[in-house]
Amino acid sequence: MNSPANPLRICCIGAGYVGGPTMAMIAKQCPDIQVTVVDLNQSRIDQWNSDVLPIYEPGLKEVVEEARGRNLSFSTDVEGGIRGANMIFISVNTPTKTHGLGAGRAANLEFVEKCARRIAECSQGHKIVVEKSTLPVRTAEAGKRILRSSSSGATFDVLSNPEFLAEGTAVSDLLAPDRVLIGGESSEAIEQLAQVYERWIPRQKILTTNLWSSELSKLTANAFLAQRVSSINAISALCEATGADVDEVAKAIGSDSRIGPKFLKASVGFGGSCFQKDILNLVYLCQHFGLSEVAMYWEQVVKMNDYQKQRFSTRIIRTMFHTVSDKQIAIWGFAFKKDTNDTRESAAIYVCRDLLEEGARLVVYDPRVSEKQIRHDLEDVFKDSSLEVSQRHKRLIETNVSIASDAYQASEHAHAIAVMTEWDEFKKLDMKRVYENMYRPAFVFDGRNILDEAVLAKIGFEVHGIGRSNKFTN
Ligand code: UDX
Ligand code: UDX
Repeated sequence: MNSPANPLRICCIGAGYVGGPTMAMIAKQCPDIQVTVVDLNQSRIDQWNSDVLPIYEPGLKEVVEEARGRNLSFSTDVEGGIRGANMIFISVNTPTKTHGLGAGRAANLEFVEKCARRIAECSQGHKIVVEKSTLPVRTAEAGKRILRSSSSGATFDVLSNPEFLAEGTAVSDLLAPDRVLIGGESSEAIEQLAQVYERWIPRQKILTTNLWSSELSKLTANAFLAQRVSSINAISALCEATGADVDEVAKAIGSDSRIGPKFLKASVGFGGSCFQKDILNLVYLCQHFGLSEVAMYWEQVVKMNDYQKQRFSTRIIRTMFHTVSDKQIAIWGFAFKKDTNDTRESAAIYVCRDLLEEGARLVVYDPRVSEKQIRHDLEDVFKDSSLEVSQRHKRLIETNVSIASDAYQASEHAHAIAVMTEWDEFKKLDMKRVYENMYRPAFVFDGRNILDEAVLAKIGFEVHGIGRSNKFTN
């Protein structure tokens, strides 16, 4: 493959946060390789083909524009994409199951299986199938069996090539990853994929393993990262109770080269599409293999995260004289982290839910998340076990949630501000102006510890950060 007679042609199924940027980078770096990204969602594909991409990632537009129309295309023709390629990436979503066996923990592999069946049906000759979606260990095995059943006589090699990019920094992560992991059985297939990445990534950063190690490494990496956040968040609760400052503690421990400084930022809780889903997946796997202690150990990381989100809402309510009913709270930021428009599992959703239940009026501002998405997420979080939203909750969202076009507007006539996402623009605001337009006491609950407490206190705010007892109460 990738000889003049048989050039490499890549197809990726799933034009999401992972498939889109990853394929755009491959196409940019390898102008001689045709890359087609296919997706069932017509409007997503239309957006990839337009000036306004469906996802916001710094630097992504430039990468897409360089390659699109040259060797990168986006289409809804899944079958055509599969037929035309000799290397097929599967990058469809694998959400946590909401019902049936393993509900709430296991990954829903329906989409991945459907992809494998589709590939089996419409392939001819030999193809390499690359798992990009994060999957439970040994999913590749199932994939192989489905592919082997192909009636067309096609043959396949299956590789696992998990993606480690983080949203908001996807382009730089893809450009210079810490490592690329390729798991598989066929050394030839591994080599074919390694040669693609080798175009811009040093060979020593391309690690090869067996299939299962690769699948498990992805789950483990996310579990370890999430565990660090939950660990520092656990300590933040103790700091609030005792008067220590969690950022000082993080700095002190992070200076130990064995611990390291990264991923020690206490927050209102981690979000994103991966951490919770992957840990629950790991928990399910451990339970499946009868390792209940191991399962419980990892489950605690998610429990601590739920506790952190709920602690934040409770702190707001308690501090504001035990009631937020009919009070206006400015929600600064709705995305699960800065520099992305992604809101999946964002802590903001859960904090807003709790505050709405208490009758607060919320004015939300996020520089990248649309009003439609915010309302959709809030409806979603109020769904009951039969996936219905009650009339009361629908009305609550309609009457008590409004969207502002900037942070100043959100905090006008507000009783409190809750910082939910660490957007840089929040650090540059004229906080005197914000203060003048708020009710007194003017509370700030900084769920990201990005604002300067001392400066705010001097203006007159009452500031409550994460992992700090508030020294600056007026
Ligand atoms: C996904 C997985 O969720 C994650 O586990 C994995 O690590 C990478 O791929 P992401 O790209 O963020 O992450 O998902 P999402 O943005 O939801 O994109 C998936 C896309 O696949 C969607 O655009 C969806 O329309 C598409 N899809 C899904 C198909 O084209 N066919 C399907 O059968 C199912
Ligand atoms: C994560 C992994 O980092 C990435 O390797 C994998 O491919 C997908 O999952 P992502 O979810 O995009 O990436 O973002 P990440 O930067 O890991 O942040 C996840 C959540 O943890 C965010 O809500 C973030 O705000 C939070 N976080 C992160 C903290 O609260 N404190 C920290 O110190 C770091």
